[in-house]
Amino acid sequence: MKIAVTGKGGSGKSTVSGALARQLARLGHDVVAIDADPNPNLGISLGVDRELVESMRPILNSLLDAGHTHNDPTPPADALLADYGVDAPDGVRLVATGKIERPSGSCLCCGSHNTTRQFFGELPAEDRVVLADLEAGLNDLIWAAPGPDDVVLAVTEGSAKSVEIARRACSLAEEMGVKRIIGIANRTISDDDVARISQELGVEMHTIPEDPAIEKADEQGVAAFDANPSSPAMMAVGALASRLRPSPGP
Ligand SMILES: Nc1ncnc2c1ncn2[C@@H]1O[C@H](COP(=O)(O)OP(=O)(O)OP(=O)(O)O)[C@@H](O)[C@H]1O
Ligand SMILES: [Mg+2]
Repeated sequence: MKIAVTGKGGSGKSTVSGALARQLARLGHDVVAIDADPNPNLGISLGVDRELVESMRPILNSLLDAGHTHNDPTPPADALLADYGVDAPDGVRLVATGKIERPSGSCLCCGSHNTTRQFFGELPAEDRVVLADLEAGLNDLIWAAPGPDDVVLAVTEGSAKSVEIARRACSLAEEMGVKRIIGIANRTISDDDVARISQELGVEMHTIPEDPAIEKADEQGVAAFDANPSSPAMMAVGALASRLRPSPGP
């Protein structure tokens, strides 16, 4: 199963991705987490040691350092995962696609998006979960190019701008043929919130409440899942993992 997590900046994509990856791993799945943000920080939400997060080399940066150009064929995704991935708690394997590190005359992002596309498209996911925490906005969703068998989570908090981006993400995903699109109403404080967001998105919904434990964990720079795995938001992510859980094979 492949899961693309998309939405506006600050809507909660990394918080949800990190906790969901951990919960799915605890349910017994082999999980690969892709940090597709050029300012990668999924490692923190996953509970990876801060020093390891800071020392990890994203794929694109590593390839460029090794003299690769955009025109060179890239090694297979599984080989890159083995070489440049790091181990996160509960057996999750984390890989970052690219990171902006210094000023440059040209932009890194096409290469980073391309790496996202390669990883999301190429990694076999018959017997594992590949979860991509995408860059904010809609561009990276197009690059990840999820298909009919994939799941798209459109994360939004309650603001009209955030809901509008999630709505557009849902309609893009639908156009790409994705059959399972789930709107994640994050930081909700009332049933009215959920009803309003659900009406705007017009897709299957899952609700994650506003939870002070998350902000507290973020202030301390630790994963919300490690700080308080039974906080209301973390319990809601656990319920999402159970909903998403691929059915056992024949
Ligand atoms: N359910 C929640 N309750 C309270 N705070 C939350 C919740 N979800 C996320 N947050 C807070 O919202 C902020 C943004 O969360 P997060 O970094 O996961 O968003 P993001 O979509 O990944 O952002 P970016 O686009 O910058 O990568 C964080 O400070 C986090 O603590
Ligand atoms: Mg993020």
